[in-house]
Amino acid sequence: MIVAGDALTSKHARYVLTPWMAQGNLKPPVIVRGEGIYLYDADGNRYADLTSGLIAVNLGHGHPAVRAAMHEQVDRLCFSPPSWFNDARAELGEALVRLAPWGDEGGRVFFSTSGAAANEDAIKFARAVTGRSKVLTGYRSFHGSGAGSATLTGENRRWYNEPNNVMPGVVHFWAPYPYRSPFFTQDPAEETRRALQHAADTVAAENPDHVAAILIEPVIGSNGVIVFPPGYLAGLRVLCDAHGIVLIFDEVMTGFGRTGAAFGGERFGVVPDMLTFAKGVTSGYVPLGGVLLREKYARAFDEKPLPAGHTYSGHPLAMATGIATLQAYRDAGLYERAADGIEPRLRAGLERVRDKHEIVGEVRGVGAFFALEFVSDRATREPLVPWQGKSLGVMPTLFAGLKKRGAYAFGRYNVLHVAPPLIITDEQIDEAVATIDAAVGELEEAYATARG
Ligand SMILES: Cc1ncc(COP(=O)(O)O)c(C=O)c1O
Repeated sequence: MIVAGDALTSKHARYVLTPWMAQGNLKPPVIVRGEGIYLYDADGNRYADLTSGLIAVNLGHGHPAVRAAMHEQVDRLCFSPPSWFNDARAELGEALVRLAPWGDEGGRVFFSTSGAAANEDAIKFARAVTGRSKVLTGYRSFHGSGAGSATLTGENRRWYNEPNNVMPGVVHFWAPYPYRSPFFTQDPAEETRRALQHAADTVAAENPDHVAAILIEPVIGSNGVIVFPPGYLAGLRVLCDAHGIVLIFDEVMTGFGRTGAAFGGERFGVVPDMLTFAKGVTSGYVPLGGVLLREKYARAFDEKPLPAGHTYSGHPLAMATGIATLQAYRDAGLYERAADGIEPRLRAGLERVRDKHEIVGEVRGVGAFFALEFVSDRATREPLVPWQGKSLGVMPTLFAGLKKRGAYAFGRYNVLHVAPPLIITDEQIDEAVATIDAAVGELEEAYATARG
């Protein structure tokens, strides 16, 4: 039952723990309804959802065809034993494998319920097929908050797990970050060259015969939408091939049109051996994740048991939602729309914001996946607030400014993410840019005042 916003806020704060936050004094809007790119709170306020929930709701909220498919499945079957077969599971499996990058070789899918579990499952599969133990992942990556997936993660959300990281054999390396090069370069080609040398050196130092997998987001997601310079992912492919290492793309955020193609790997022309997905597979409507494996590796489990299983693996409600979601992406041509329509318009709009406000150091992105990185000094690129620092400084002004103007988006430290649902219209993109422009202006003023 919907009651006045304040009462619901108190009830929520009293009974529910909210992810990643100190719990005292939380007062976010209480969301009760969603439609298209908009969320509505219990007081009737409307917010343009500029980060698709958590970069999951690629279809926008409340898509009618998906809702209808969910209703139909609810009425027919709400649970099916994972060890017996199921009609919807077979169908979504086929649709996903057709979308996967392995062409005639084909592949198979294993369903989990989250991105975190999918990554942990993929690591088990890679270890099983190679008989090796070590896994290389990037710093400044996020692969989930489960005990294993947090160990894979390369930033401070892993620190909660330490010193007892539960997944042994995980080694981190630096991936390219052209705006703040870990390799002291200014030039993208040189960044690629040095980053690949570093990856090769890391593999060599760890003993190539012990390395089962390299796991990487094809575009770094929640750590700042970092698009790798040309040739980097292709170079990792070559490195993996040279040593029989399984290349796994974590497509949890980049999948299902976010980068302007079905998967990020496709957008950059690089084929992994396995890919993990979640979020956009159901447009975030119900929890679903999974691992796609090329047939060569899936076949390894024809004789030996698959080393993974979940109560909700291939849950019928998630399967029906996934089938309808993939169909809706196809029907509306949303992967193409992200590449050809959203990307140029959103980039141009956000670059105008950058040109107007000194506080914006860089705008970067691909498809419908962008970020603004804020700096206190454009020349030195000094971050407006330290990455992984203890204080967010003036950054909350930005999010308050967006909220006040009827928009929701999330960010981390000195980065704002802009990743709207792929159904966003040109007019809505322009409105979003105007809202961001105004909120960034307010951030700039707040910073000037704080600096004195
Ligand atoms: C790249 C990436 N991998 C894994 C995850 C974890 O997914 P989940 O929250 O479904 O466990 C996320 C979540 O944001 C993600 O962005």
